[in-house]
Amino acid sequence: MLLNNFQQDTGLGFLEQEPKTVDLPELEFLERGIWEALSDSEGPVREMCSHILNGRGKRIRPLLVLHSGLIFSGLTSELRNAAVAAELIHMASLVHDDVIDNSSIRRHKPSVNSLWDNTYAVLCGDYLFAKAFSLMSSNTLTGCMNYMVEAIGNMCRGEIEQANNRFNFDLGLDAYYDCIAKKTAIFLACCCKSGAHASGADELYLKLVGEYGLNLGFAFQIIDDILDFSGRVEVMGKTRYNDLRQGNITLPVILLLNHDRHGPRARDIIKRHTSVEQLVDHLVNLVHKSGVMDKAFDVARTYITKAKQCLSLLPGSRHTDFLRNLADKLLLRTS
Ligand code: IPE
Ligand code: IPE
Ligand code: MG
Ligand code: MG
Repeated sequence: MLLNNFQQDTGLGFLEQEPKTVDLPELEFLERGIWEALSDSEGPVREMCSHILNGRGKRIRPLLVLHSGLIFSGLTSELRNAAVAAELIHMASLVHDDVIDNSSIRRHKPSVNSLWDNTYAVLCGDYLFAKAFSLMSSNTLTGCMNYMVEAIGNMCRGEIEQANNRFNFDLGLDAYYDCIAKKTAIFLACCCKSGAHASGADELYLKLVGEYGLNLGFAFQIIDDILDFSGRVEVMGKTRYNDLRQGNITLPVILLLNHDRHGPRARDIIKRHTSVEQLVDHLVNLVHKSGVMDKAFDVARTYITKAKQCLSLLPGSRHTDFLRNLADKLLLRTS
């Protein structure tokens, strides 16, 4: 098994293009921590963890923990454990999300549910949650643990709301934003707060990094939802059109349904479709033709601007610069 081999392709290419944005020793420190946390696993769960770790992940959440913390103190093992725990929780949520979304590809590889099955994937996700919490409990990171509890509770609520609204083409913008806040943005906010808390930041700063993470998270999920229509499978490492195929109504579709000219045509397609594949085919065409992708991207850009405004009130450091750069880079994200 490969669990002692931490030098993997992390999928951070989009950050590494600019050497100043990533400090490789910090990244290596983090990467080693992630592999170490799972190194005592045995049997099938070890194989599943190894499979996940060998896939490319962008490591955005642990990097948020790490750099939000490094603004306020040096690199401690507490901070690293908080960062590693965030990535383990994220990995768990992806494994479960692929069961929920019936997804067959994740991080350029077959998903756990497709290689093993749903039973194994659910248990593997639970195992990763357990590993994350053991890391936080054994290092007196209870403050960070509280942020992770908040994030996981919201992720579950968001995924349940999404499931409740499958194929609900009357889903409004408010409900969409509420869902992506719970599913994604609150987790990113909690990662930033967890890192800053582990480094002893005061209340005002905790609030500011949290606001940064929240806005970044909104932009992140909106771009993810755009990429589901326009991304390249070989770059993203996951399938396209899966949101619509599963009935998950995202920003481009909501904007399309509210479009003066193309909205009525979209509603007609929804009324008359005879199969999900036909529905997806026709709606995808209309999404591209109508210009709603650009509008969705404008919304993401607005959230990125708001995120960066929060940073201007934080102490200046290369870690604050990292967070600013990360926000800019997300707008160029292709995977
Ligand atoms: C995917 O997150 C899940 C969403 C919230 C959209 P990432 O795109 O950060 O996944 P990895 O870690 O890089 O695989
Ligand atoms: C994922 O949202 C949110 C999670 C809580 C994991 P998506 O369903 O859009 O994520 P992808 O597209 O599968 O990565
Ligand atoms: Mg999914
Ligand atoms: Mg998605």
